[in-house]
Amino acid sequence: MPHLIAPSILSADFANLERDINMINESEADWFHVDIMDGVFVPNISFGFPVLKAIQKHAKKPLDVHLMIVDPDRYVTAFKDAGAHVLSVHLEACTHLHRSIQNIKSHGMKAGVAINPHSSISLLENTIADIDLVCVMSVNPGFGGQKFIQNTYQKVKDLKALIQKHNSSALIEIDGGVDLNNYKQLLECGADVLVAGNTVFSSTNPKATIQALKK
Ligand code: DX5
Ligand code: ZN
Repeated sequence: MPHLIAPSILSADFANLERDINMINESEADWFHVDIMDGVFVPNISFGFPVLKAIQKHAKKPLDVHLMIVDPDRYVTAFKDAGAHVLSVHLEACTHLHRSIQNIKSHGMKAGVAINPHSSISLLENTIADIDLVCVMSVNPGFGGQKFIQNTYQKVKDLKALIQKHNSSALIEIDGGVDLNNYKQLLECGADVLVAGNTVFSSTNPKATIQALKK
C-alpha cells in the first residue's frame, strides 16, 4: 500500500480555515488529521465540535481524529456524528482500552490507539489484533511544531514486528515533527501514515510540500 499523508489542521490558519481545507482537498494529501485537546490530558486546548463540524462541511477527504482527552468514551457518538472516519484514543487515557476500541468500531469508525513517547510498544501486545491504526507519537502531545524524538524509529520497527507477529492489519501512523528530512527513514521502518502540521503549513508552497512527502 502506498503511504498516506495526513496534514494536521492544528497548524492551519483558523481565520482562513476554508481556504486551508480547500488547499488540502486539492492536494495529494489523503486524510485530514484533526487534533482535539482538552487541557487536562495535554497542557493545551485546541478546539471542539463547532470547529470540527466546520471542517467536516468543507473536507472532501476522510477525517482522522486524534483525541488527546481524558475519558474519551464519553464522546465516541459525538465524534461519529461530527464525521470522524478514524477515531484515535490515547492508550494512557483509557482504563479499559479493549472496551474503547470495540466501542469505536461498533459506531462504524476505524479504531486508532495513540501511544505517547514514554509508553512501550509492548503495551499493545493484547490489543494489536483489534486495532485499525496505531498513532505513534514522535513528540509529547499538546503542540504543533515540536522537535522529532529520535527513538521513534526503533519504536516503529518494534511495532511493525508486533503487527506481523499477530497478523494484525493495523496501520502505523507517525505524529509529530515529521519533515522532509526524516520521512523516508520513517517509511523504511514501516510507517504507513505520516501526519505533518508545521512542515506543510509553514512552507511557502504547502501543496508542493505534500507532494514531496508523498514521494
Ligand atoms: C501534537 C499533535 C500533532 C501535531 C503535529 O500533539 O498530535 O498532530 O499537530 O504537528 P507537527 O507536524 O507540527 O509536529
Ligand atoms: Zn495528532
